[in-house]
Amino acid sequence: MPMPSLIKLCFLLMPQFLIGSRIIPATVFTVQNSCSKTIWPGTLSGNGAAVLGGGGFALSPGEFMQFPAPPGWSGRFWARTGCSFGATGDGNCATGNCGGGLKCTGSGVPPASLVEFTLANSNSEKDFYDVSLVDGYNLPLSVRPSGGSGDCQYAGCVADLNKSCPTELQVIVFGEVVACKSACTAFNTPEYCCTGNHSTPSTCPPTNYSLLFKNACPSAYSYAYDDQSSLRTCSGADYFITFCPST
Ligand SMILES: *[C@@H]1O[C@H](CO)[C@@H](O)[C@H](O)[C@H]1NC(C)=O
Ligand SMILES: *[C@@H]1O[C@H](CO)[C@@H](O)[C@H](O)[C@H]1NC(C)=O
Ligand SMILES: *[C@@H]1O[C@H](CO)[C@@H](O)[C@H](O)[C@H]1NC(C)=O
Repeated sequence: MPMPSLIKLCFLLMPQFLIGSRIIPATVFTVQNSCSKTIWPGTLSGNGAAVLGGGGFALSPGEFMQFPAPPGWSGRFWARTGCSFGATGDGNCATGNCGGGLKCTGSGVPPASLVEFTLANSNSEKDFYDVSLVDGYNLPLSVRPSGGSGDCQYAGCVADLNKSCPTELQVIVFGEVVACKSACTAFNTPEYCCTGNHSTPSTCPPTNYSLLFKNACPSAYSYAYDDQSSLRTCSGADYFITFCPST
């Protein structure tokens, strides 16, 4: 095998980043579409972290893509559904729209189910991750660590919340429920959004609406001050993010 492709192969198999004088392996995210339709995942990085996957891309049913992320990366993944993009990448989606067309430049417009990450900066720290319905729900999804140490638990929401969504939270496109809003998005009141007089965990208890989400998807955050049981930790893992995982 010629040298250049061997070197390239090694890099692909073991992505790593040079931090100061130390080499730290990258965390590899595998984003998989197990839905029966094409989805357009969006990614958003926090605090100036590297943009993954150009911010957004299309994934056909059964397809997956992999992205190495540097230590300390933080950000989120979600899926957009029912999109149509022109040749220049401009266009719109039925759910999960973001600024910038195909390549997101902002977070997805709620409702959209999210996976959120804050990766460790060093080997002595942990990655934090969760699945969140705080911005509502548009697709079932899950996150599964691979090869890490520590708690490293699965998190996900596999229930079809389009089906059980109360009328007042439904997003309907062409007569079909395509997403389910959070009560905060639907009603925008301090009680549901945990703002104003309800801006602390003790003054913003679960509501009948957040409990609907919690009961359907116990391992996902259902509202801003959901208890910490939905936050996961793991060290040194890679992560599989699956949209429409099988139950
Ligand atoms: C919810 O609606 C979206 C948009 O139609 C669809 O892609 C998704 O599959 C639905 N959720 C489930 C669990 O069927
Ligand atoms: C917040 O609580 C205070 C004290 O109970 C009350 O006077 C005020 O009207 C409340 N504000 C809102 C926006 O409900
Ligand atoms: C939730 O509670 C509100 C206010 O108490 C009520 O108006 C609403 O019908 C309830 N919704 C559900 C789905 O239980």
